Amino acid sequence: MGLRATRATILLFLFFLSSPLPSSTVIAGGSGEDYVRPLPRKTLSLPSKPKRSSDPQQVHISLAGTQHMRITWVSDDEFSRSIVEYGTSPGEYTSSSQGESAFYKYLLYSSGKINHVVIGPLESSTTYFYRCGGQGPEFQFMTPPSEFPVTFSVVGDLGQTGWTKSTLDHISQCKYDVHLLPGDLSYADYQQHLWDSFGALVQPLASSRPWMVTEGNHEKESIVFFKSGFQAYNARWKMPYEECGSTSNLYYSFEVAGVHIIMLGSYSDYDENSDQYAWLKTDLARLDRERTPWLLVLLHVPWYNSNWAHQGEGKSMMAAMEPLLYAAGVDIFIAGHVHAYERMDRVYNGGLDPCGPLHITIGDGGNREGLAHRFNHPKPEWSVYREASFGHGELKIVNSTHAIWSWHRNDDDESVKSDEVWINSLASTGCIHENRPEYRKILMSP
Ligand SMILES: [Fe+2]
Repeated sequence: MGLRATRATILLFLFFLSSPLPSSTVIAGGSGEDYVRPLPRKTLSLPSKPKRSSDPQQVHISLAGTQHMRITWVSDDEFSRSIVEYGTSPGEYTSSSQGESAFYKYLLYSSGKINHVVIGPLESSTTYFYRCGGQGPEFQFMTPPSEFPVTFSVVGDLGQTGWTKSTLDHISQCKYDVHLLPGDLSYADYQQHLWDSFGALVQPLASSRPWMVTEGNHEKESIVFFKSGFQAYNARWKMPYEECGSTSNLYYSFEVAGVHIIMLGSYSDYDENSDQYAWLKTDLARLDRERTPWLLVLLHVPWYNSNWAHQGEGKSMMAAMEPLLYAAGVDIFIAGHVHAYERMDRVYNGGLDPCGPLHITIGDGGNREGLAHRFNHPKPEWSVYREASFGHGELKIVNSTHAIWSWHRNDDDESVKSDEVWINSLASTGCIHENRPEYRKILMSP
């Protein structure tokens, strides 16, 4: 047996030992046997090595508290410095910051040096030029605005196929401030070099606008009795959990302009006695809807879903947390996991409710597993638009009362706007105040 065959056998063995199963085979609540998907595109063959080992690779940025940005990159040179120099003119670095670095090992794989450096304070709506490790190429990013309007690009279950590339091309044409990714990034699935190639694929976008992500099942990569899970994800995609009082990289919150965004963890404990639940309550209690009139929640597994795929998987988390989020007045709830697009109406407790969040499922980034194109019939009353095509979403929060959401299908590599809706904030429709007498005790109880 050759080395390649041995490696494949080990991977297959680990695959069956670990949990959860990949999303293409986990279909709860439906038969799923005659589930037919259109042909996925192949995983791209991507170069991930720079000309010099000290040059930064896989550069991406993320918001790190008020007026700060975290710069993350990988270097093959263990002696390279964890330093970022930056300024508002090309080649003129008037400031610099030092950060931290780490390596990780996963079976036979050893990562490069993963650097995280937080820079700031930064001006809003400003272009910054920066260099990682004291040498190498210059990058640039634009900071988000401090006031409305603010625009988010949104897509989950991205992967690294020909479809992914098409989706990323379309996102790059959108004038967005922050990218939101509700789980399932690289689809590395234990093959750690695929984290490196994913980092290289998204670098052009993720080094120029903050990418805010939360975890999906494909990030877990656990091995029974050996690996507890999320090792690569936590090492490579550090999010601002410490900055918001969370103790886990798997759930956190942040603010942009007048929007408070909560990234929940579908694969972290969520019951009433869990750390995540306690943190969420604390985070919601700190909300000031005068300062941040919009409240968004993102996570991986949808709570409302009329697709055959992953039917019912979000039920127990929904039972635990939906009353709390309803009491807080969540405006928009965005999930991934199901490889299709679906926009729901405002819902709560299984039915239509004008004071509930508007739900969106957008797990259609372009991963190698293909599309989930079978939906339940008849269509539930709360499902407004559903389609199994790859694509991405754009959310422009225009002001404190109005936002516009659009979904853009990858139509043979053309980006076609296929769904669009105006959304009123709950703060503007009186829902939050109406909720308070009834639900205040849910939010305030110890
Ligand atoms: Fe998933």
